[in-house]
Amino acid sequence: MTVYDSIGATYSSTRRPDPRIAARIHSALGDARTVVNVGAGAGSYEPAGTVLAVEPSAVMIAQRPAGAAPAVQAVAESLPVADDAADAVMALLTVHHWTDLAAGLAELRRIARRRVVVLTWDQRVTREFWLLREYVPEATAIDETRAVPVEVLAELLGGARIETVPVPHDCVDGFGAAYWRRPSAYLERVVRDGISMLAQTGEEALAPGLARLHADLASGRWHEQHADLLELDELDAGYRLVIADVS
Ligand SMILES: C[S@@+](CC[C@H](N)C(=O)[O-])C[C@H]1O[C@@H](n2cnc3c(N)ncnc32)[C@H](O)[C@@H]1O
Repeated sequence: MTVYDSIGATYSSTRRPDPRIAARIHSALGDARTVVNVGAGAGSYEPAGTVLAVEPSAVMIAQRPAGAAPAVQAVAESLPVADDAADAVMALLTVHHWTDLAAGLAELRRIARRRVVVLTWDQRVTREFWLLREYVPEATAIDETRAVPVEVLAELLGGARIETVPVPHDCVDGFGAAYWRRPSAYLERVVRDGISMLAQTGEEALAPGLARLHADLASGRWHEQHADLLELDELDAGYRLVIADVS
């Protein structure tokens, strides 16, 4: 049983592709006509040319929409896919879950004819996100151990360019920092269940911080402290695209 077999059951209730983030990912894929999605989850952000999804969790595969590309249950470290199988390979918000990063990235390079696109986050930026810094530092601890530095990804991919992916204030994909301007969302269990760093931290450990957030929202303290955020339309919360051309 994989981690996502236990924490992924309600994933698709809050994790829907955001069109602005989709545009960035699809632009990073360039003119690729065929794409393999590794660590595909329920299939968010798969472009029309997706020919195969690779995903270890049966619970996540079951949430793929009807008509999505075929999925195979496997891990990145050992892809049951031929060399040069697609123009591009993408791996979105997944590399931090892999047990052998170097092996997984070598596999992405092996099956990509031209390009590998990885979406991840820069922990140096993300750890400063208000929810983590001020309310639930327990959740930061999980990401401190598993975050993959973008420089390491770039090196293992044989060189890459890094692009910032800002989070719109009304982001429809409920990942970690999606609700940066809608703080009360983090008080909802269904929202937390769609964010692995919160789901894996556990409700008991989160409870004191969430109680403080609840109180600060009720008293107006949060809005006073974060008046600057309310002026912004998008935020750099650390999300990064790592784009490598391979041959
Ligand atoms: C946060 S979800 C992201 C899913 C999807 N890429 C998205 O952006 O919505 C992380 C996914 O990585 C998968 N995963 C975990 N370990 C993996 C591995 N070793 N190889 C491939 N995928 C893995 C999980 O099962 C989960 O579906």
